[in-house]
Amino acid sequence: MTQSRKKLHIKTFGCQMNAYDSERMAEALAPAGYDVTEAMDDADLVILNTCHIREKAAEKVYSELGRVRLNKEARKSQGRGTMVAVAGCVAQAEGEEIIARAPVVDIVVGPQSLHRLADLVAKAETGERSVETEFPADDKFTALPSRAGGKRQVSAFVTVQEGCDKFCTFCVVPYTRGAEYSRPVTDIVAEVERLAAAGVREVTLLGQNVNAYHGDGEDGSAWSLARLLRRLAEIPDIARMRFTTSHPRDMDEDLIALFGDEEKLMPYLHLPYQAGSDRILAAMNRKHTAEEYERLVDRIRAARPDLALSTDIIVGFPGETDEDFQDTLDVAKRVGFAQAFSFKYSARPGTPGASLEGQVPEMVKKERLAILQAQIEESRRTFDRATVGRRIPVLFEGNGRKPGQIAGRSPYLQAVYVDGPERLIGHIAEVDILAAGPNSLTGVMNAGFEWREPIRTAV
Ligand code: SAH
Ligand code: SF4
Ligand code: F3S
Repeated sequence: MTQSRKKLHIKTFGCQMNAYDSERMAEALAPAGYDVTEAMDDADLVILNTCHIREKAAEKVYSELGRVRLNKEARKSQGRGTMVAVAGCVAQAEGEEIIARAPVVDIVVGPQSLHRLADLVAKAETGERSVETEFPADDKFTALPSRAGGKRQVSAFVTVQEGCDKFCTFCVVPYTRGAEYSRPVTDIVAEVERLAAAGVREVTLLGQNVNAYHGDGEDGSAWSLARLLRRLAEIPDIARMRFTTSHPRDMDEDLIALFGDEEKLMPYLHLPYQAGSDRILAAMNRKHTAEEYERLVDRIRAARPDLALSTDIIVGFPGETDEDFQDTLDVAKRVGFAQAFSFKYSARPGTPGASLEGQVPEMVKKERLAILQAQIEESRRTFDRATVGRRIPVLFEGNGRKPGQIAGRSPYLQAVYVDGPERLIGHIAEVDILAAGPNSLTGVMNAGFEWREPIRTAV
């Protein structure tokens, strides 16, 4: 008897590590008969892959589950069943509570237990609801099926490190993702080789503290991120490498030097500084000063002068005064970020920051955020405008918005649109940048340019 295929819909929230986990869940469920669909109402199994980083995360999940319930009822009236799973960091944080509050949910599964998902789905098919939020001893990466690289992709994420031992006082990640863990080098190399064979040309290594990576190396010793990147650079079809997110304290000399030495490592670095006041940085438990952050940036720029820097900033951490906030603005001004993500401080239950004195009123946070975002936007536009007139290698990833147009990324992660042939998708070609729009660059192909690799037609 041939079993008919079923449909799976995954809605992903939060960081890129969740995006990676969603892909892995889809792959893990394929052997159980599930194909991915973009349409929730078509899905026999709906997974919400949730994020807990900021306020009202759990409430948002419950209201999303309200929509899922309506969908389930509509399908039921057509005689179709729907299974519902909540995965990710809210699943980890709320656990049993979700099952108790939302009868629509069949499965609650934490980020470290994803390899158990296929079993949990099989159980749910017999009507058994389950909650799996342990930090299991076995490793989800090795227990999950090998990454197929089936979806045609030019750029792919690869999680190499998970969890965090740093305990910044505002952050839930050490609680939701658990202790720091690095995947072994051989597993990562095998995964990247499979991706390369499937046409991937750029990998972004992911980790909450990616530059604290210290996985078992091919020689049995612990390898640093720099060493791992050097090894991955040996894979011929991988043309570009990136990594995110880095902590300032873990930027070692070797990694800094790599920005100057390794041409496959792109000149883009996401390096959160969170705040410009040393008093606030200390209260956040970041364990570096603003001055140390800026000197670190100087050293990385000495290795790679054209580096595009990106960052995360929090405004309104408890006790933040106008002067402290001014320090934050000043750091941003001096560094000149190409990109920045800024947030209002959000008190997360269970974190030390939530019980600090001097919580900043919402209005003040809002005002500070608006001021900061205007300044950051200006510095982002300045960075983009500085690329106008330059000839830049672009890795093309797909079709553009208009017919005849293709779209790709500059080394600095800017979106670039040009008129060009589709066969260039998956390849790098030089583009003369003509203009910088609000969110992307436009340019023309350098007609005389011939990339040193042959154009591959069968990717
Ligand atoms: N591991 C990364 C950050 C992960 S969370 C690092 O150490 O930099 C991504 C960003 O969300 C953080 O950099 C921080 O700016 C923001 N963030 C985390 N918790 C927050 C909170 N409670 N309130 C506001 N922003 C927060
Ligand atoms: Fe959160 Fe800090 Fe760890 Fe980053 S380093 S994940 S901000 S605790
Ligand atoms: Fe959110 Fe969890 Fe990532 S809380 S930011 S999904 S690690």
